[in-house]
Amino acid sequence: MRAEILDGKSTAAKARSRIAEEVAQWVAGGGAIPTLAAVLVGDDPASQVYVRNKEKACQKAGMQSRLIRQPDSTTTEQLLDLLAQLNLAPEVHGILVQLPLPKQIDTQSVLDAVDPIKDVDAFAPENVGLLVQGRPRYLPCTPHGIVHLLAEYRIETLGKHVVIVGRSDIVGKPLANMLVQRDAGLGKSFANATVTVCHSQSENLASITRSADILVAAVGRPKLVTADMVKLGSVVIDVGINRVEDQIVGDVDFDSVCEVAAAITPVPGGIGPLTIAMLLRNTLNAAKLQAIQQP
Ligand code: GUN
Repeated sequence: MRAEILDGKSTAAKARSRIAEEVAQWVAGGGAIPTLAAVLVGDDPASQVYVRNKEKACQKAGMQSRLIRQPDSTTTEQLLDLLAQLNLAPEVHGILVQLPLPKQIDTQSVLDAVDPIKDVDAFAPENVGLLVQGRPRYLPCTPHGIVHLLAEYRIETLGKHVVIVGRSDIVGKPLANMLVQRDAGLGKSFANATVTVCHSQSENLASITRSADILVAAVGRPKLVTADMVKLGSVVIDVGINRVEDQIVGDVDFDSVCEVAAAITPVPGGIGPLTIAMLLRNTLNAAKLQAIQQP
């Protein structure tokens, strides 16, 4: 079997142009230009690239972005002060704090300090709680990107066994929470899954992953998923972005898994571009929500 390549790049471009049309309509109707504030602390090269890509995508979609750079030595208190200002700024609709933060910073209290209505990453406890209860305010960007890609390719999750390798707060946990819903906003066919979440303490990992109809790798370990861990004819989603000897590789051993899977996402050009498109969606939705809430 030679797997079909699920093209995240073109799917994301299509989503972005739809969002750009909606932004233009919104602004033509008197709405405020949706504005994202991206906070980047320190000089991690990968984070700089991600934030620059997010900014560029905002601008191309007719939105505004503000990059707020802070030195590597920033303290938790300084970051909390900055977030308090951004929370109060009426012209800022979405706030994104790029992760990871430097070691001295208490990441959880920083994420807790983002006003939930401006929390376009959907990391705030209130937004996580709303998602778990099946009434999301914002869908988390990477999980939303994954389900959006599956929906575009008509790969249904209803009744399927989805195995997620990785229990991060950014991908594994929120994706599991989306997929077990009756409808997470993309229709019943793209929810209602039987979900298993594996992690570093899981025993017999390969026997669990081999039972997946849809296997999602999101652990940040280069080429962890090999062909012997994949069921024949399954769908494999690779969320990993790992730098190995100046090359970007995923969590999936692409060449060997291609021979077993029916469909697979490449790295790069798979889930990464969709994460950015879904961030734009949330920023537009945030501008609309805040327009309703204003007195
Ligand atoms: N770092 C890696 N992925 C993400 C993400 O989706 N959002 C933010 N803010 N930081 C990240």
